[in-house]
This record gives sequence, structure tokens and C-alpha cells, in this order.
Amino acid sequence: MGGMSELSALLHEHRRFSPAPAFAAKAHVSDPAIYAQAAADPEAFWAQFATELDWMAPWTQVLDWQPPHARWFVDGKINVSANCLDRHVTGGRRNKAAFIWEGEPGDRRTLTYFDLHRQTCQFANVLKGLGVNKGDRVALYMPLIPELAIAMLACARIGAVHSVVFGGFSAESLRDRINDAQATVLVTADGGYRRGGIVPLKQMADEALADTPSIAHVVVVRRGVADIPVHMSEGRDRWYHELMDGASAQCAPEPMDSEDMLYILYTSGTTGKPKGIVHTTGGYLLGAYATTKWVFDMKDDDVYWCTADIGWVTGHSYVVYGPLANGATVVMYEGAPDWPAKDRFWEIIERYGVTIFYTAPTAIRAFMRWGTEWPARRDLSSLRLLGSVGEPINPEAWMWYHEHIGHERCPVVDTWWQTETGSILIAPLPGITHTKPGSATQTFPGISARILTQQGDAVPVGGGLLAITHPWPSMLRGIYGDPERFVQQYWSKWDRGTYFTGDGAKLDDEGYYWLLGRVDDVLNVAGHRIGTMEVESALVDHPKVAESAVVGRPHQIKGQALCAFVTIKEGVARSEGLADELKAHVAQKIGAIARPDDIIFAADLPKTRSGKIMRRLLRDIAEGKALGDTTTLADPSVVARLRDQYQDEA
Ligand code: WT7
Repeated sequence: MGGMSELSALLHEHRRFSPAPAFAAKAHVSDPAIYAQAAADPEAFWAQFATELDWMAPWTQVLDWQPPHARWFVDGKINVSANCLDRHVTGGRRNKAAFIWEGEPGDRRTLTYFDLHRQTCQFANVLKGLGVNKGDRVALYMPLIPELAIAMLACARIGAVHSVVFGGFSAESLRDRINDAQATVLVTADGGYRRGGIVPLKQMADEALADTPSIAHVVVVRRGVADIPVHMSEGRDRWYHELMDGASAQCAPEPMDSEDMLYILYTSGTTGKPKGIVHTTGGYLLGAYATTKWVFDMKDDDVYWCTADIGWVTGHSYVVYGPLANGATVVMYEGAPDWPAKDRFWEIIERYGVTIFYTAPTAIRAFMRWGTEWPARRDLSSLRLLGSVGEPINPEAWMWYHEHIGHERCPVVDTWWQTETGSILIAPLPGITHTKPGSATQTFPGISARILTQQGDAVPVGGGLLAITHPWPSMLRGIYGDPERFVQQYWSKWDRGTYFTGDGAKLDDEGYYWLLGRVDDVLNVAGHRIGTMEVESALVDHPKVAESAVVGRPHQIKGQALCAFVTIKEGVARSEGLADELKAHVAQKIGAIARPDDIIFAADLPKTRSGKIMRRLLRDIAEGKALGDTTTLADPSVVARLRDQYQDEA
């Protein structure tokens, strides 16, 4: 939701909401002094929090910081699955619901902590039986079903590294991620459901597997999707339920070093190739645990629902690891919010008595458009806290969420973070923070941020680049297989100890953060992070395309829409048919989330005299703005022509 008008609107936001006394009285955090305490000695703060986890061997040093390389809880030994399962099974939550799952067609399952523990141990033994050792990579390409969480926890139990690939990604995207991680096992499913349709995961996996030499075994979960042919390749593919049938439910958790790798998760950057973000064990678990407990004020009797897919980092930290480490009851729903009707989410909240609800602004904006009659039909009185994540939330959406879902009773926590940060870094603490619609408010205790200029000067009040100035436990430890890119991408904008987020933000005169969106070539479309270069590479891969430049333009529901300027090869005719063909090509190459909204055929792209495409101008054209300075252009008429044409077409 970038743009200057939005920004100046933010500067004039005067609404304030203070925590209700009844909420504050019972909240985990009720004393604002925690901020100053944590800031005075962040390592001591984190070390104190870390004692709430179960360690197999103590750490000898809280933080070893050799910028930009951090090691947290040095020499400590810990197992993530034991913290998410065993301690609850033995600690009074044995038959508490861990997951309450609902499939899109309406099928339902509840797994207790005891169930989840048993099945995780069994699947850990299955993986061992397939030759998976500590440190080996296991790729997971699945619908949103409990077996995905079980597979993650099973990997964590034996020290294997999981790499979850979102089920909406294409066969090619899956192939590239498997090959980059050199995964030896793939766990997938026959298929899944989405908005009444079927996602044929195994078929897409088969396509990817034609070119993934590292994969020795494929395990297939039978989701039970009807009418979907599944070809099982002899010697390579095995059914999950058959392997589980004979597997022992005894599997001791592997003592992992704090800094052993827990998972790789690919995310888009400013180049054509997605980055494998590496998270490790002790610090990551602490970040997910601590933020879940404090930002969501998680209590034992809460029913918590984060609507994210596990294929994204939000699902890793706030569907699986954070809530399970807290022993929470987690609702999981496979499908779309408008299937079969536009009150599906509110129906689920009513059915399970959800108390904490965490979703994305793009969804909230869609709900706004659908109208208040849908939530009004359902009993939402169980809710006590609402969260938002993924992109800046515009004040109107914040207010609508507060009024029509929270009934002005529930604190709204806008949470800023990234795949790289592992857990929430900027958000209110709901028992103490006064919120302002559209602001993510303050850094979590123990986190240090600054707004800096390009040159690295601190901006005390006003806009600039968001930087994190002190290491934090759940920070990324690297980019898999590319140590140079890690340093260059995140730790080279200023000094080696200052993390560059890629986001613009503003600090107001009360020290509140207002996130303004990405400042690099990364777009945020419906809360999904998409690299413009990835889409450009997919477009030029099409035989009829000569060149392309992809930019974002504001979109009412999705936040940003993908606008692709394309020059086609000599002798090829422009047509609507070709535009559709190119959109389909991108969806096929990357996944439906990257399908361009607009294809603009151009005779030429605006370039500087040195040949660089001037994206700023294309962005202005796509946003329908007056054109800025074009004097550095090689041929300014290119832009004028494009603008006239875009206005004709739009
Ligand atoms: C980018 C990270 C973190 C989980 C989901 C996305 C944007 C995320 C907010 C927010 C404003 C936000 C940023 C960030 N973003 N949350 N509350 N307010 N912007 O993870 O895919 O790694 O994307 O999402 O631009 O850099 P991700």
C-alpha cells in the first residue's frame, strides 16, 4: 500500500486504542518496564526466556557475535520436537487437542498432543528407515494437512533439515528447490483442495522428479482426493499409511546443537533465484516461542487460529513451532475463505470457539468488500485477540477488523517480520501497548531497530530504511549454499553488524513504527513475496518474448498487482491471446501466485543511456501517475508512448 497519499494519511492518524483493563489484568505482560530491562541487557533477557524451554545440555555462552555471524546459546543441546510434544505429553496436556483440522470439503480431524507425539515418532522412524540421517534434507510438498506438521516435527526429532515447498508452487519451482537443497527424500500427497478445485500435487511432483537426481525416496500421503490418478513409481514411491503401519512409536529425540540447522525455507529476493533461508534450532525455537506467548498472549485455554499456509514462514513459526512450543490448541484449515460461502472463516471461529485469530490484510480487505453481513451471521464472541501479518495494514482495514470481527473488544496486533527474521520483531504487547490503526507499534523486547538514511544516519522522526541494529535469537544464519550472498544482501548496506530489512518505514514522534513496504525489487502481492526478476525470467523464457520489466501497482484487495511490460520478438503479433498465453506461462513456470495481472506490450522499454531499465518510470505509468524526470532516458519518447498506450488499455 505504498504511495505518498497513503503516507501522509499515516502521518495524521490520531486514533488510539488502549488495552482494556480486564484484558491487561490477565495478560502475560502487564508492566512496560520490561522494555527498558530487555534493552539494558538483551542477552540476559533472552537467556531468562530460554529457561522456559527444555534443554538437554546447558549453553556456555548466550551469544557469540562475529558480525554478521551469530551463534546463540553456544554449546546448548535441545530438540525442537521434544519441546513441542514430549513436555506437554508428560506435563498435563496429553489429551489436550494440539491440532483441530478441517479440510476444505468439510472433513474434520482432531489430534491430541499424545496423537501428535505418537505419529511424529512413527514418522521419524519411517524417515530413519529410508536412510535419512542427521543433517540430510527432506523436501515437503503438501496440502495443509496435519501430516505436514508431523513430517516437520519428525525431521526435527531426528535432526533432518526440512524444506517445505508451498503446494501452490509449480513443478519447476519444486524441482529447483529440491536441487538447491539436494534433498534425498520428498514427502508429498495425492493432492489437496482449493476453492472447490483439486491441486494434483503428486502429478506435479512427478514432473519435478524427472530432474531431481538427489531424491532416493518419495513418500505419498493419501489425502483421499477422489478422481485423481496417482502413479506410484516402483522402488521410489511409497504410501505414507503403509510405512506408518509397521513403524514403532518409540523414537528418542536427537540432542541437537543450538546452532544445528532446523530448516531451509526459500523466499524471493532481488535476483531471479529464490534464496534458501537457513534457520537453526535453539534461537529460532526461542523466538517463535517467546513471541507467540507475549504478542498473542497465549494461554492454556486459548483456541488459536493462524490462517497462513505452512508453506510460508508464518505457518512454520505461528502454525507449528511457536504455538506447539506453548502447548496451544491450534486450528488448521486447508482451504479458501469463500468456500463454499463467504462466511467460512467465521463459521470455523464459531464452531471451535476460536479465541485468537491471525490473518493477513489482503484477506481483511476481501472481507470488507464482501460485506459485514457475512461475519454478522456468526457468533464471534469467543474471540479475544486479533492479529495481522504479511504487509502493511491500511488504517481502514485495521478499523474494520477491530469493529466487525473484534466487536471493539479485542486488541489488534499488527506484526512485522520476515522469513529472514524467523519471528515477530515489531508488534504491540496487547496488555500494555496503546495501538494506532496502521502502525505495528514497537519492537519486541530485546530487539533494536533504527530508521536509517541510505548513508546510515539515524532518523529520529520521519521516514527511511528499516534496520535491525543488534542480533536476535531467531535471525537467519545464512542463505543455503551461498555465504557471500548472505553478507552482501543483508549486512553490506551499512556496517557488517546492521541488518538491512529491505523495507521502508517511518517513526512517528512517539517512537511508533509505520511500515511502508519494500524498497527493493520485491513485490508483495496478496501477502505473498514475489521477486520481479523471477517473473521477468519466466517471461523471457517464453519463445515469443524479447524483454520484460515487471513492476507493482497498487491494488484494492491484493495490496499490489503485478504489471509486466513486455517487448516481443520481431514478426510476432500482439494479441489478447498472447497476453493470456504469457500469463499462463508464468503460472506454469513459478506458480499461480506469480501470474501477472497486466501484460503491457511495448515497442521498447525505457532505458538510461547506459542501458538500465528505468523501473521507476514504469511504476509511475502503472500507477497512472504524472511522469517524473525523464532526462536521463536514452529516448524519452518511449515513455510518453508507453503511458498513452497504457491509459488506452487500462
Ligand atoms: C515482507 C516479508 C512475516 C511473515 C509474512 C511475510 C512485509 C510482513 C508486515 C507488516 C508491513 C509487512 C514486509 C517484509 N510485511 N509483515 N505487519 N507490516 N509489512 O514474510 O514473505 O518473508 O515477507 O513482508 O515488506 O519485508 P515474507
